[in-house]
Amino acid sequence: MSWRASVLSLFPDMFPGPLGQSLAGRALENGVWSLDVTNIRDFAHDRHRTVDDTPFGGGAGMVLRPDIVDAAVAAVADDRPVVCLTPRGRPFSQDDARRFAAGPGIVLLCGRYEGIDQRVIEARQMQEISIGDYVLSGGELAALVLLDAIVRLLPGVMGAADSAVEESFGNGLLEYPHYTRPAEWQGRSVPEVLLSGHHGAVAAWRQAEAERITRERRPDLWAAAASRHHAVTAAS
Ligand SMILES: C[S@@+](CC[C@H](N)C(=O)[O-])C[C@H]1O[C@@H](n2cnc3c(N)ncnc32)[C@H](O)[C@@H]1O
Repeated sequence: MSWRASVLSLFPDMFPGPLGQSLAGRALENGVWSLDVTNIRDFAHDRHRTVDDTPFGGGAGMVLRPDIVDAAVAAVADDRPVVCLTPRGRPFSQDDARRFAAGPGIVLLCGRYEGIDQRVIEARQMQEISIGDYVLSGGELAALVLLDAIVRLLPGVMGAADSAVEESFGNGLLEYPHYTRPAEWQGRSVPEVLLSGHHGAVAAWRQAEAERITRERRPDLWAAAASRHHAVTAAS
């Protein structure tokens, strides 16, 4: 059985969007993963196909109704985790992508307007996930981001079997910089060690660069990597 994604959205035409191209698109065509998109509006029960209402307590905007969202989730729910995309969620990480890729698939609920009634999020035990500290106009782009990060980790999607192992976050560090031909370009040369053919020296240089860049750009990741290292050395 292939890895299965179900998306619940008020704008189903936004899918597969960019995921129909390149690696993810080929994998979709080849049946490595499947995607079904449900229009939440199909579960409205009035003549105007209303899905939202004004917030209790007042304030701007509209909120997606719990009964309608629940009916849409019920139509696709099985043993897969249900994720609600929201800026109030836990920040999405490479570890999440790996975890979801190892499971049977995912159900992604895309909010719009002011968001979704909290009761259905709790009743359906959804995981609330954010893709960053900014506000998008809808959850669709966030769902595409999660799917892109997950699908490339599915077996057989990436070309070289191990190309996910060394990349950024693979070992808690950002990745080292890359260089290709020409060796000299606009007066800038490639670091000497990369031309040496000495695999051990190249590996050491890459590790040192990954550490330097992580320390400089992401002190938070660096501190987490350092404390993991301490825990490992203390235990051994
Ligand atoms: C305009 S936003 C609602 C923002 C909400 N009123 C708040 O301040 O938290 C509409 C929808 O976009 C999605 N969204 C917006 N920003 C997001 C983010 N950073 N990560 C994930 N989803 C996001 C969510 O599904 C949200 O329900």
